[in-house]
Amino acid sequence: MLNNSKWIGVPVDFGSVCPVFYKKFDIKKGVLEAKLQITAVGCYIAYLNEERIGNFVMAPGWTNYNKRLQVQEYDVKHLLKPENELKVEAGPGWHLSRQTVNISTYYKNAELCVIYELNIKYEDGTEETIVSDSDTLVSQSSVLFSGLYEGEVYDSRKFEKVEYPSKIIDYTHETLIKQEGETVVEKERIPPVSVHRTRGGYILDFGENITGYVEFAVNAPSGHIIELDHGEILDSNNELYTENLRTAWQKIQVIANGTSFKYKPKFTFQGFRYVRVINWWGELNPEDFTAVAVYSDIKRTGYFTCSNDKINKLFENVIRGQKGNFLDVPTDCPQRDERLGWTGDTQVFIKTAAYNFDVEKFFDKWLNDLASEQFEDGGVPAIIPNVFGTDSASSSAWGDAAVICPWQIYLSYGNKDILKRQYNSMCKWVDYIKNQGDNPYLWNTGHHFGDWLALDAPYGSYLGATDKALIATAFFAYSTSLVVKAGKVLGCDVSEYEKLYNLVRKEFQNNFVKGDELTSHTQTAYALAVYFELVDDIKAFGDKLNTLVKENGNKLKTGFVGTPYLLHALTKAGFYKTAYSLLLKEEFPSWLYSVNQGATTIWEHWDGIDENGKLWSPDMNSFNHYAYGCVADWMYEVVAGIRIDENNPAFNNIIFHPVPDERLDFANGSVETKNGIVKSEWKREGNNVNFRFTVPSGSTATVILGEEIHNVGSGVHTFSKAI
Ligand code: BGC
Repeated sequence: MLNNSKWIGVPVDFGSVCPVFYKKFDIKKGVLEAKLQITAVGCYIAYLNEERIGNFVMAPGWTNYNKRLQVQEYDVKHLLKPENELKVEAGPGWHLSRQTVNISTYYKNAELCVIYELNIKYEDGTEETIVSDSDTLVSQSSVLFSGLYEGEVYDSRKFEKVEYPSKIIDYTHETLIKQEGETVVEKERIPPVSVHRTRGGYILDFGENITGYVEFAVNAPSGHIIELDHGEILDSNNELYTENLRTAWQKIQVIANGTSFKYKPKFTFQGFRYVRVINWWGELNPEDFTAVAVYSDIKRTGYFTCSNDKINKLFENVIRGQKGNFLDVPTDCPQRDERLGWTGDTQVFIKTAAYNFDVEKFFDKWLNDLASEQFEDGGVPAIIPNVFGTDSASSSAWGDAAVICPWQIYLSYGNKDILKRQYNSMCKWVDYIKNQGDNPYLWNTGHHFGDWLALDAPYGSYLGATDKALIATAFFAYSTSLVVKAGKVLGCDVSEYEKLYNLVRKEFQNNFVKGDELTSHTQTAYALAVYFELVDDIKAFGDKLNTLVKENGNKLKTGFVGTPYLLHALTKAGFYKTAYSLLLKEEFPSWLYSVNQGATTIWEHWDGIDENGKLWSPDMNSFNHYAYGCVADWMYEVVAGIRIDENNPAFNNIIFHPVPDERLDFANGSVETKNGIVKSEWKREGNNVNFRFTVPSGSTATVILGEEIHNVGSGVHTFSKAI
């Protein structure tokens, strides 16, 4: 791609100052079509005659840059004039900023550069191409510094611009690909809900924890420096708390020029609810500040409400957490010095994600990155894109994202092409596991994150009590079972994987089942065994899980591995009341505990802030980590009762199987599918529960109400059941 153009960069050392490229050209004839193709090593914002081209924030997005770099194409015909100037501002972005705690720059030999090609078709049938080459001039911009975690420094004062011919950079064209994912855009504008003064400055509260930046009006004498610090919570003195950001500064500095103008950062974003404004000039007017939520342009598809307002709040927190962590890549968190595509977190949350929003295209791109990052031996890095390099552990439950994610995207959207493309990667992962250690059917070697952050670990530890080999072997079996299902959908011969599945399941039983108990007597172990059907008597092991929860005062103890399956496993074994008790629990540890503490997103730790107001250690305490938000898929599937039929996915046949509980008076769920809106509503009236199901045209549905089963076509269907 872009074969007529050259990569261009900066010919002299600009230090940390971001460059801006200029190219002037004239148009002398009528234009039929004008398309700009452009990308950067770093991030770019392009303008034609001072009008911004497109609305992609942090373009060109984040991919496995060593193999895949997206090129965007924009229609710019409407911006052309007789005399034109194409301007491209560039900054480090994901490609060149420090990434993760220790790694300064993963893409080591990369140097900031851009490449573009403007193809113009004239009305008279002729064509012209304006390309990036040494005729493009480059100068310093007003952005003195930009860093993904650090923030930005912007000097608005006029300065003597020195223009240089751009330097031609010998960088590959081989990695260039067309835009695959969603674009990232400014999605919401949020005014502050309050402002207060502290010793540190003014603190603005935007009322919700978001990802993006603050746009604000600057009007201060020339040279005056205004600073903005971003954080998720306040400390006990009502000051901004930033320790959990670790080495991420999240700091914006703007040097005023004596005139009034609006400012927002260009190549960075922050995770925040609160902003501390330092050194403001004059009285601060909150109306001069707007928080801009930035995330992938995914369409909202799923909604859920019920008679319990706290559950509704929890659901909204899940939605917010998804928005804040779907900024081109599914990330663990958007604020501290990580913001990485952790595979474990992603597989935990993907089912919920696919109900909430249309994430087909978003995951198509990410899964292509995953496959492109997979190690030769089939191992899957713990983060995608993999800026850890070869050190990245192929951990169970993290690497299983290679199988769980494409399968879920197939179930949610019915896209066989994605499944087909990923099938090799799925098989490679399962084969990789088989090759670990001496026993091909047991995974008891290597590094695993285990039941990350589970509460059955000693206080302060990250690893839950469940045996890592039990978890690893359980996921080995589960992933193999999904490979079998995927292979069948694609018409592949899966007999070897079927055999493998049976042997792994048997080995799981040989090693981790002793009599009628599991060797790890933990909620997570039982949840996995029941949900993945690794034991023969689901009911009996479900009963044990139920007892474990009850013995613990109806409270959960699970971490990243067990939590997604806990309520589903209880439901599967018939203990839905206990599942409801966990959902409705308000005391610590529970989902509603954080809601009661005023959370507006999902916390990383059940005890991010404990009952005495004490914070978990700042080394790992994000307040916007979507993983535990996976509980929303239980709300859709069991409370509202909207389920996907594996044999006829993408809601072509819907399974309506709500399980009402007397602690709720009503519940409504809906999902916008390719066929239209699927809805399930139920309401308790007198001694009856009245159900109403909406089946869009093109879909059929199987309605399961207790023992009753009804097969229905499109339309609205009502049922009433005594309780
Ligand atoms: C991340 C997690 C991730 C984990 C791996 C953390 O630093 O924030 O969400 O899955 O590391 O154990």
